[in-house]
Amino acid sequence: MFGPVTEIRDLQRRAKFRVPKMFYDYADSGAWTQSTYLDNSDAFGRIKIRQRVARNIDERSVKTQMIGRDVAMPVALAPVGLTGMQHPDGEIAAARAAEKFGVPFTLSTMSICSIEAVAEATTKPFWFQLYVMRDRGFVEDLIARAKAAGCEALVLTLDLQVLGQRHKDIKNGLSAPPKPTLKAMADLALRPQWCLGMLGTKNRTFGNIVGHAPGVTNMTSLSEWTHSQFDPTLDWDSIEWIKSKWDGKLILKGINDVEDAEIAAKIGADAMVVSNHGGRQLDGAAASIDMLAPIVDAVGDAIEIHFDSGIRSGQDVFKAIALGAKSTFVGRAYIYGLGAMGEAGVAKALEIIHKELDITMGLAGETDIRKVGRHNLLETPRPWPHNV
Ligand SMILES: Cc1cc2nc3c(=O)[nH]c(=O)nc-3n(C[C@H](O)[C@H](O)[C@H](O)COP(=O)(O)O)c2cc1C
Repeated sequence: MFGPVTEIRDLQRRAKFRVPKMFYDYADSGAWTQSTYLDNSDAFGRIKIRQRVARNIDERSVKTQMIGRDVAMPVALAPVGLTGMQHPDGEIAAARAAEKFGVPFTLSTMSICSIEAVAEATTKPFWFQLYVMRDRGFVEDLIARAKAAGCEALVLTLDLQVLGQRHKDIKNGLSAPPKPTLKAMADLALRPQWCLGMLGTKNRTFGNIVGHAPGVTNMTSLSEWTHSQFDPTLDWDSIEWIKSKWDGKLILKGINDVEDAEIAAKIGADAMVVSNHGGRQLDGAAASIDMLAPIVDAVGDAIEIHFDSGIRSGQDVFKAIALGAKSTFVGRAYIYGLGAMGEAGVAKALEIIHKELDITMGLAGETDIRKVGRHNLLETPRPWPHNV
């Protein structure tokens, strides 16, 4: 029915077919008009790679490091809430695919499988993404659980103090697990494989929260929880507090402005992720790839810079590296693979990106991803004016 999988878009089409609509839509959407969501990908199209010929490109390597860890390519799996609703035990499937491939997996605070469940099902340390809640006791507890599970890095997300609105989530009545409405039941009836898988696991709601946050024994509404619990007072002082509780590697995620990058670089974190949350938060914000070069120019000597938002191919990864990112994260690219084919689909997404990155690098005349830079682009995008 679908033909061979040759690109991420093929995985997306399959995911749309296999995943219940409310969860597929949850992934494939941006805030409000979706202008930033769509521009994240469009902006990559505006960047052109220099095509070089007659260079010996026989021995190529896309291996590099992220915060001192060896990685098979400059790609990590981004934290994605409700991953376990795209596919039964989705976080475990994705973490296993990542560990086999040799790239980091980041578990979201809003995951379905808990920190402990993922730790038990994997053999290598993963990264844990933290949302800061008003209840600082609960935050401390989450940090302690991540430490106890042997997590290698804490990825602190800064761009979700309040939740950006995605129309589809409201219209679909997004909840985990789905509420038994007529609409939801009709949708599930068309996805028997998904339903069977869900019947076979006990991981069906927010594993890090339900039964751990004081008083939360049952929680179906993500937006209800975020509205009441996410901390809008989170500021740079709170980040110092988190640093004092977490003595391991720290990555600050969600920087999309030069001035914020300059402040973040002074915090003493190990890396920052230039990101606009995949266009899910501030609709109308700049595409993150347009902000990457100015941020690298401002603070690239002071802190390791990672990038996400809009990556759908190895060519996109190459462009981000050429603009100065040390590495990247992918969100939807692997989530579509997961929804399409579980662990094998995540592995497929990683294989596709790896192959595209390797061939792109070769055709650009390079053999070592660590030596790719602005010289590989036709022209450096104009510096973005900041403070205007
Ligand atoms: C469905 C979905 C859920 C997400 N949930 C989280 C989350 O729980 N925590 C977080 O820090 N980022 C979250 N993100 C943002 C991703 O970590 C990442 O920044 C984004 O997906 C990158 O854009 P891309 O999907 O275009 O690759 C989510 C993204 C998606 C698509």
